[in-house]
Parts: sequence; C-alpha cells; structure tokens
Amino acid sequence: MKTRRALVTGGAGFLGSHLCDGLLGEGYRVVAADNLLTGSLGNIEHLRNDSRFEFVQKDVCYPGEWGTLDLDYVLHFASPASPVDYAEHGIETLRVGSYGTFEALETARRSGAKFMMASTSECYGDPAVHPQTETYWGNVNPIGPRSVYDEAKRFSEAVTMAYHRYHQVDTRIVRIFNTYGPRMQINDGRVIPNFMWQALRGENLTVYGDGSQTRSFCYVSDEVDGILRLAGSSGLESGHEPVNIGNPTEFTILDCARKVIATTGSRSQIKFEGLPQDDPKQRRPDISKAKRLLGWEPKVELESGLKLSLEYFRRAVAEKGKEKRA
Ligand SMILES: NC(=O)c1ccc[n+]([C@@H]2O[C@H](COP(=O)([O-])OP(=O)(O)OC[C@H]3O[C@@H](n4cnc5c(N)ncnc54)[C@H](O)[C@@H]3O)[C@@H](O)[C@H]2O)c1
Repeated sequence: MKTRRALVTGGAGFLGSHLCDGLLGEGYRVVAADNLLTGSLGNIEHLRNDSRFEFVQKDVCYPGEWGTLDLDYVLHFASPASPVDYAEHGIETLRVGSYGTFEALETARRSGAKFMMASTSECYGDPAVHPQTETYWGNVNPIGPRSVYDEAKRFSEAVTMAYHRYHQVDTRIVRIFNTYGPRMQINDGRVIPNFMWQALRGENLTVYGDGSQTRSFCYVSDEVDGILRLAGSSGLESGHEPVNIGNPTEFTILDCARKVIATTGSRSQIKFEGLPQDDPKQRRPDISKAKRLLGWEPKVELESGLKLSLEYFRRAVAEKGKEKRA
C-alpha cells in the first residue's frame, strides 16, 4: 500500500509536534514546516533520526517548497496560540491566519490533498451560549486586543469553507478548546503552565478576578486522538463544518489552581488580581457532534493529566531558571 504523506504547518509547536508523532504512529510520512516563531526544535528533537520525518524551516505565509513529499494531507496548525504570544505577535497572527491559510489551502488544492485547519474555541469569543455548540456564531469583539487571534481564526475558517465550496477541497475544521500537556511553553500565559511555573517555584498562584470564571482543559493525548479521528473521517454528515474537540468537564480557575498546588505538593498560596479585558467568563465545549460523528470523547481527567505533565513542567521550570541566571 502507498505510504500516505502529510504536511503539518506549525509542526514544531506544542500541538503540531504531538500531531506529527500521531501521524507517524498511523504510518504517515510527515513533513513539518515551521518558522520557529513560538515553537522549538526541542519539540521535534526525538524525530531527528526518523527517516519518515522531515523538517522545513519556513514561514508558511509565503509560497515555496515543502520538502520532498507529494502530499495526501495538509494540516494547518501554524499560528501563535497563547495570549502572551498573540499579544506580542499580533500582525504575524493575522498574517498566518490569512495569507498562511491561503498558502496551505493552495498547497492542498494543487496536490489534491485533504486539508485540516486548526481553529479554536476563541471563535466563540465571550460566549452568550453555554456550553458552546458548533452552530453558535460567537460573541467576539472585532477590535479588542484578542481580535488579532479570534478574527484571524474566524477568517481562516471562512477561507477553508470557501476552498471547499469553490474548489471542492476535502476540508476539516477542528475547533480546539484549551489543551495542555508536555511541550507547552512554560511561560506563555496559559492557565496550566502559569500555575505550574508559579507552584514549582513556590510563588503564589495568580488568579484573575475572583477565580469563578470557568475553563475546561483537555489533555494533549485526548486532543490529538480527536484531531486524528476527524482527519481520518470520511463521508460524514456535515463533516466539512467545524467540530469541537475539547474536554467538557468544567472547572473554575480557582479549582484548577488548587489542583495544581495539590499535584506539585507546593506550599504556594493563591493571590487575586484584576480581570484582563475581554477575558471570557465561561468556556465549555458541547462535544455531542464529535461523539456522534467520530465516537470520540476525552478519557484523561484533569488530576491524571496534571500528574502526567508534572515531570515535563519540572524540567521546563529548571531549564528556564538556568537561562534566567545565565
Ligand atoms: N493549545 C491549545 O490549547 C489550542 C487551542 C485552540 C487552538 N489551538 C490551535 O492549534 C495550533 C497550534 O497551537 P499550539 O498550542 O501548538 O501553539 P504553538 O505556539 O506551540 O505552535 C504554533 C506553531 O506555529 C509556528 N508558526 C507560527 N507562525 C508561523 C508561520 N508564519 N510560519 C510557520 N510556522 C509558524 C510556531 O513557530 C509554532 O511552532 C494553533 O493554530 C492554535 O491556534 C491550540
């Protein structure tokens, strides 16, 4: 049987690198394209000697070569994703969501490859509907500080649907909700790395507002399993339209802080600070569609996921500490 070949844009990032592992596990040959804006070679170091894997350092907003492979699948995961990263790289975020999505889709169209776009729960903004179903159109501030990310992703979804409608590209859109696990950047402003960083250094954990705002957290192995099932699906009812993949179990931010303190065995306390602008009060995926179409639901509970991630975060905190002292 012919070996299938996949391009993962953003393949040196947190999710992209786990996706490369997952695709290799499914027997694909994989090329990862990444400009290392927020990702790192460390995330794909373990694949360096795998002959089925290729890395191309490249800004995906520009046309060009994608390594030596003919492609069966293009998975477009390149984009700054954490609030700290997209605040710092606002223009780059808008560019990769627009020009980058066009380039990735053109690549898929030319190769006759399937295409998947990594979208986000941020498309729902500060949602007025709870939990969020895929049919909810969202409540996004188009000019606020988060709009560089939210609107880039909404545009990226629109381009993806247009390539499906006008060029018959076989597309999938995955709306990813908060995912955590090994290879996350330690100080990227996302809830779990932030809390881990503070707890492992014995600092007090910062909770914004009164901590009653809720989030749901999906462990990375569950997320990648859902993404791969969606990527591999065919002939699905409304399969080209977005599918939520995330963990629907909801925790308050305060609960989450307490769980991190318990997992790390830290003596840290919790401190409260003002809420940032446009911080969503509630976020929880309705995953009925993923259950129905893909037979998927997450398996790893927050306590277990935190334990599975602890060793990685310990190392990351120690390395960051060394960098800071140097
Ligand atoms: N992690 C989550 O919880 C989450 C939630 C929702 C959506 N997503 C989406 O999943 C994707 C991956 O997110 P992540 O958490 O792994 O973030 P990440 O920052 O770890 O990975 C993104 C990767 O894209 C690369 N990149 C950015 N701009 C690029 C460009 N112009 N050309 C080439 N490479 C570029 C970065 O260097 C990085 O390696 C993103 O599209 C993000 O929007 C992630």
